[in-house]
Amino acid sequence: MNTEKVVSAFSRDLSQELFPANRHLIPNLNDIYELELAFYENLILPDEEIIKNAGYFSRLGSEYTHHFLMCTGESLKLPDHSSSRLKSFFEKNVFRTGYATHGLFPYRGKFHPQMIKGLINVMGLKPGDIVLDPMMGSGTVLVEACLMGIKAIGIDASPFCRFMTQTKLDALTMSLARARGALANYEEVFTYFQKRVGRPKPGSKPSKSNNTKDAMSVMEETAEYLTKKDHQTLTEKDRDTLNTYHFLLLAYLDSAGYAERSARKLPLAQFRAILERYLFVAEKIQQVLAGLETELAPAKVLEGDARLLTLDDNSTDGIIFSPPYSFAVDYLANDSFHLNFMGIDSDTLRDRMIGLRGRELSEKYQLYREDMGRVLTECARVLRPDCFCTIIVGTNNNQLGKVFGVSPEAVQGLHEILIDMGAGCGFKPVKIMSRPIIGISNTMRREYILILQKTSH
Ligand SMILES: C[S@@+](CC[C@H](N)C(=O)[O-])C[C@H]1O[C@@H](n2cnc3c(N)ncnc32)[C@H](O)[C@@H]1O
Repeated sequence: MNTEKVVSAFSRDLSQELFPANRHLIPNLNDIYELELAFYENLILPDEEIIKNAGYFSRLGSEYTHHFLMCTGESLKLPDHSSSRLKSFFEKNVFRTGYATHGLFPYRGKFHPQMIKGLINVMGLKPGDIVLDPMMGSGTVLVEACLMGIKAIGIDASPFCRFMTQTKLDALTMSLARARGALANYEEVFTYFQKRVGRPKPGSKPSKSNNTKDAMSVMEETAEYLTKKDHQTLTEKDRDTLNTYHFLLLAYLDSAGYAERSARKLPLAQFRAILERYLFVAEKIQQVLAGLETELAPAKVLEGDARLLTLDDNSTDGIIFSPPYSFAVDYLANDSFHLNFMGIDSDTLRDRMIGLRGRELSEKYQLYREDMGRVLTECARVLRPDCFCTIIVGTNNNQLGKVFGVSPEAVQGLHEILIDMGAGCGFKPVKIMSRPIIGISNTMRREYILILQKTSH
């Protein structure tokens, strides 16, 4: 037995071997891909950028990074009646999804926000540059870029995604006074939206409000009127009304979605808990931002088609996106309550949704591949030469194995297919990392982070 060797090995420390002594990693850094991203951030970022924009460092010497402060913040006291679920949500997710406005609306397939911060850094993007997410979903890339001072454009085929993303961005800066008032009158607000938007479950019985003050009546018409106008021309008060309305509506839609999926809580109680969480999240990030004097960058949120981008050639400095993993998730079925409310015809939208086109599963898969070819061609067109396009993708091996009558292991990975297609559009893979998917390991275990560089001019 060579105990000396063991003791000598233990005297060394992995993070000290990899990083300078004054650069401290964030707590809860659990995955290898996170350590890889931290490693590249360390190589690429000078000290002042570590402080401002690093995703995986908590401290430079004695100075805390902005990311660390955004995650932990001045710990706001949660109201006494807060549920233990709400309290544990913030404790568990402080370095994951629970910071900034990422905690608003749990969209399926949403990015891990910290990973986006790390990727924006390792792709060499700097304040003033433009990053594009052509399939933005709930807008994780846009919120992160905005916080980092990097301009962003987000596009999604679903109008609900546009609404959700815009609301999350607005919540970074909007006045929260009226939303706070709405929380105090949550029964009235809930009843109002139930009438306006519809009930998540037939037969659910929210308790009636005795409050005679109608907090919402003024807002409805104003908000409807304002949504039709050009946002640029809004007065501050108009904008405040609209932002508050959208904030409350997103919370209502979120609670309606929960109520449809689970009967654990009555819709009214769900609404109250969700609105409480939204306010907590928004207040916390606004408080931190006020102390940091960071310049938030503008973000453009569009409804559109990633296969036909309405952007100029060579107009973006970086692209980050995650496409549907072939037909693994039916985004329209998931969002049906919200889309119905918005008056969207799901059948028309289905024709634009990648992964949902086609009848038989094998036809869906074929169309998926064709569509992804068009998306990559468009990405290559709008990206500046030498810049990077990062794609996060996993493969629904089990489903595809059944479709093709082969074992899940014999199914070709979507990441390999996208790399091959990308090569045909002038993209060269420069780095491939993989990360575990938590929670659905019976369907999909890993996803891949592909960093491609545009080589053709
Ligand atoms: C995996 S999700 C993206 C989630 C996102 N990364 C986030 O952080 O929330 C894929 C998205 O692609 C969108 N999508 C599907 N077909 C599209 C198309 N033709 N053009 C643009 N977006 C599309 C879906 O609506 C869905 O929101």
